[in-house]
Amino acid sequence: MNIDVTVNGRKMNFNIECDEYLVDTLRRYGFLSVKKGCDTGSCGLCTVWVEEKPVLSCSTLSVRVSGKNITTIEALQKDALEFAEFMAGEGAEQCGFCAPGFTMTVLAMKKELENPTEEDIVHYLNGNLCRCTGYVSQLRAIKKYMGVES
Ligand code: FES
Repeated sequence: MNIDVTVNGRKMNFNIECDEYLVDTLRRYGFLSVKKGCDTGSCGLCTVWVEEKPVLSCSTLSVRVSGKNITTIEALQKDALEFAEFMAGEGAEQCGFCAPGFTMTVLAMKKELENPTEEDIVHYLNGNLCRCTGYVSQLRAIKKYMGVES
C-alpha cells in the first residue's frame, strides 16, 4: 500500500507493507539516523516525532502515520548540535547509536516542559537507555541545557 507523509517538511509517498513498522520504513527511505535497538519498545533508540510528539518508531505501524508530519534528527541539526555541546561539557557524549533517539526526546522535552524538576526530567527520559555512558553526567548536561538549577 502507499501512504502520503511529510518527513522533515518534505512531502513523500511511502510504499509499505501493512505490517511494517515506521523504523523500518524510514530506514528503507534513507533516514538512517533512526536507529533500531531492542525493536520491542524498550530502549528509545528509534525515537522520532510524529506531529511534534516523540514516538517509538519500532512500535508504530507505518500505516498509522499516513497523512502525518514526521520529524527525524536530520531536520533538527542546529538544536541537536547545541544540546551536544552541553553533553560534551559534562563529559556525557554518547555514541551515534543512542544519541539520535536520546536527543529527539530531550528536544521534545525542551519544547514541552517549562522549568522541569530533576524528577520531571528523569521521568520524561525513562524510556531512553544508554549502553555507553551511564546517566549521571547526562542528567547534569540536560539540567544545564534545560536551565534547571542544580
Ligand atoms: Fe524502538 Fe528500542 S528500537 S524502543
